[in-house]
Amino acid sequence: MVLVDSVTRAGDSVIARRRPEEAPVDATVSPTRRPADRAASRPRAATPRLAKFHVPEILFGPGSLPEAAHAAVRLGARRPLLVTDPGLVDAGWPAQLCAHLADAGLRASVWDGVTPNPKDHEIAAGHLAYLEQRCDVIVALGGGSVIDAAKGIALLAGNGGTILDYEGVDRMALPIPPLVMVPSTSGTGADVSQFCIVTDTRRNTKITILGRALVPDVSVVDPHLLVTMPDWLNAATGLDALTHGIEAYVSRAHNPLTDHHALQAIALVGEHLERTMDHPSEEAARTCMAQAALEAGLAFTNAILGAAHAMSHQVGGLLDLPHGVINGVLLPHVIRFNAEPDPHRFVPIAQALGLPGDITPDSTAGAAEAAEWAACEVRRLADELGVPKGLGEIGVTESDVGLLSAMTLADACLSTNPREADQADIETLFRAAL
Ligand SMILES: NC(=O)c1ccc[n+]([C@@H]2O[C@H](COP(=O)([O-])OP(=O)(O)OC[C@H]3O[C@@H](n4cnc5c(N)ncnc54)[C@H](O)[C@@H]3O)[C@@H](O)[C@H]2O)c1
Ligand SMILES: [Fe+2]
Repeated sequence: MVLVDSVTRAGDSVIARRRPEEAPVDATVSPTRRPADRAASRPRAATPRLAKFHVPEILFGPGSLPEAAHAAVRLGARRPLLVTDPGLVDAGWPAQLCAHLADAGLRASVWDGVTPNPKDHEIAAGHLAYLEQRCDVIVALGGGSVIDAAKGIALLAGNGGTILDYEGVDRMALPIPPLVMVPSTSGTGADVSQFCIVTDTRRNTKITILGRALVPDVSVVDPHLLVTMPDWLNAATGLDALTHGIEAYVSRAHNPLTDHHALQAIALVGEHLERTMDHPSEEAARTCMAQAALEAGLAFTNAILGAAHAMSHQVGGLLDLPHGVINGVLLPHVIRFNAEPDPHRFVPIAQALGLPGDITPDSTAGAAEAAEWAACEVRRLADELGVPKGLGEIGVTESDVGLLSAMTLADACLSTNPREADQADIETLFRAAL
C-alpha cells in the first residue's frame, strides 16, 4: 500500500510524499519495546488517504522449497527457466529445486550465468537462453543478484531492447513472464520488491529499474537455504536488511503499513543477526533473519529507500563490492545527516534496536540522543560483524568522491530521502565515510 497524498506518480508506480506539516507518525509497537513505551507510540489518528501496497504471494517457512515447483505449475509453466549462479550450484540448491520441478512434471532449463552485482551483458545472455529454450516461466534461486538478473531477463522477454533502456520508473509497457523467486540470502528483499538493480558496465554504475510489473508473482522463502551462506555474506545481507528497514521507516513515502514492517525488520535484525553468526546452523535464528529480510523488503518496496542506497549503488557499480557491506559503512553517517534537522522519527528505530532506559527521548534533545545512539549501535553491530570502518579500506579514494556524488544525485532512491541533499552534502557524507 502506498498512501497517495502529494504524489510523484509515474505510470502504475506511485511515490507518495508525506505532507510537510504532518507530525511524525510513531506508528507500530516493536516487539522489543517496553510496555511504558507503547502508549506513547500508539498510532495517531490520520486523515484517511488512498492507499496502495504491492506484494507477491508469499510462502514462508523452513522446508518450503518444494512449493516453488507447485507455484510454477500454478502459473502455467511448461518449460521454466531456472536462473541461478555458480555459487548456488556448488551449494546444491538448484539441483534440489530441479528435482522438485521434475516431481511436479516440469523439466527446467538451468541458466547460471549471473555474477554478484549482475551486469548488463549477463541479462542479455540470460534473455538469449530464455528464447533459445523457449521458456515460459522464470524461477530464480539465489541472492539479490540472481533475482535481479531474473527480473531483467523477464523484462527483456516481455518488452525487448536492452536492459539499460529501462532505467528509471515504469519504463516497461508490456507484460512480463511469470516470476517465482526463491531467495538464498537474508537481506535484499528483492524477491518481493519492485526494484531491479543492474550494473551498467559502460558507466561503472548500478542503475535502478523500478516498476509495479517487476513485483514477482510468488516468493518462496525457505530459511534452510541460508545455512550454506558464508559468514561474510550473512553479515552483509543482514546489514542490507537493516538498512532497508531504517531507510523505509524514515522515507518520505512511508505510511503506517510500511512502518510496521520496517520496525519489525529492524528489531529482528537487532535481535538475531549476531546469533546467526555465532550459531550458523540454528534454525530459529535463521528463520527470524529470513523474516527480517522479507519484512524489510515489504517495507522498502512500498516506501522506497534513501541516501544510503543512492550512494551505495554508485560504490557498488564502481568497485563490484558486496552491497550490504557498503550499506553498513554508510548507514551511521546517513542516520546522523538525516536526524540533524529532525531526530524524532529515529526514536522508534532506536527503541526497536534496544535503546537503553537511561536515554529519555521525549524532548528534541532526547530524540537527538536516541538518534545518535542508533547510529552508534549500527556501527557497533558492523564492528561485531567485521565490516570495514570506512570506504577507504575497500578501495574508495578521495578522487572518486566528486563523481560518486554526482551520480548519487541521479539515483531514484535519493528522491525519498527525508532530508534534501545536494552535491556538497553528498560529498561531505562520502568524505565522512572514507
Ligand atoms: N532488487 C532489489 O530490491 C534489491 C534490494 C537490495 C539489493 N539488491 C541487489 O542484490 C545484490 C546483492 O545480493 P545478495 O547480497 O543477496 O548477494 P548475491 O546475490 O550478490 O550473492 C553473493 C554470492 O553469494 C553466493 N550465495 C548466495 N546465497 C548463497 C547460499 N545460500 N549459500 C552459498 N552461497 C550463496 C552467490 O553464489 C554469490 O557468489 C546487489 O546487486 C544489490 O544491488 C537488490
Ligand atoms: Fe539494499
